[in-house]
Amino acid sequence: MKPHSGTTVINVSSRPMEKSGKQIVMSGIRPTGILHLGNYFGALKNYLRMQDEYECYFMIADLHSLTTHPDTNELRKNVLHVISEYLACGLDPEKVALYCQSSIYQTSELYFYLNTLAYKGELEKTTTFKDKARLQPQNINAALLTYPVLMTADILLHRALYVPVGKDQEQHLEMARNFAARFNHRYAEVFPEPVAFNFGQELVKVPSLDGTGKMSKSENQNATLYLSDSDELIRKKIMKAKTDEGPKAPGTPKPDYIENLFQLVRLTGAEDVYNKFEADYSNCNIRYGDMKKQLAEEMIRFMAPIREKAEAIRNDEKYLAEVLEKGAFKARRSAEATMQLVRQSIGIKYF
Ligand code: TRP
Repeated sequence: MKPHSGTTVINVSSRPMEKSGKQIVMSGIRPTGILHLGNYFGALKNYLRMQDEYECYFMIADLHSLTTHPDTNELRKNVLHVISEYLACGLDPEKVALYCQSSIYQTSELYFYLNTLAYKGELEKTTTFKDKARLQPQNINAALLTYPVLMTADILLHRALYVPVGKDQEQHLEMARNFAARFNHRYAEVFPEPVAFNFGQELVKVPSLDGTGKMSKSENQNATLYLSDSDELIRKKIMKAKTDEGPKAPGTPKPDYIENLFQLVRLTGAEDVYNKFEADYSNCNIRYGDMKKQLAEEMIRFMAPIREKAEAIRNDEKYLAEVLEKGAFKARRSAEATMQLVRQSIGIKYF
């Protein structure tokens, strides 16, 4: 289908409000749980690298959380919690736009247009929809069904090309590409087709402490280290991690749960400690109790400063409000520039 007659030809390469000339990165996180070590190494560390090289929009998806968490008692607290941890980890609100989804009114507008391009059948086939529908059969609301459409609006509002996300979001991103292509085809070439991006590397997976899977927001909280865990709690969780008697013969491969402990030591950056226990393992004289004690102390050395900084920031509500207002300002400016193109290409501009 050709763009309908009367469509203005739009020069998409001109982004009126964008001065940086950098590629655009956009990502979001739902404020439905508190951040853990997996979020830090899997996402945040990449964000930190991106903030200098790209024009970045990092968003807290508070609207998305309403699709699964209609009770909003904790919402504001959770949003401020996540923001304070982002800041404590080193995201710089001067460099990036750090904002809440609900602050950008243009999101709902683009969401509507994209909804006209999204089909019931494909939405119903989305894995996350099927999972969530199973989990909350009494609340299969329309926004749950159109979750990927809202996510697409978040991304396309900034005409972002790069979206740093994990594998679990790959299907949503593929849908975003489809919706972008459909819009471009029907109206005018407004949107790039966004792709997942993590500096061409596999994302770092942070193994959970119980030897199964990776650290996650909701599964086994005792096997996940949260950025806000106290020193005592970090020690307790690590000391509970599964081990065994140790290797009996040189050359014995490490079982997964032991490999995971080594991986965690490596993530703390304590190379000497890593090498020592590696050698002990090879010599079959490793003492896992000692290793876990040492791992706990290294982990605390790494995590405590982030926790303390986040606490200080969390107590400064005025500063947090300033950060969110500044982020909203930047994001709205970028969104409005895109929406002018969108309205113009659809042909609904009356004055
Ligand atoms: N759906 C994402 C998640 O559950 C969060 C999200 C919302 C997002 N909007 C986004 C991620 C835009 C990337 C880009 O984790």
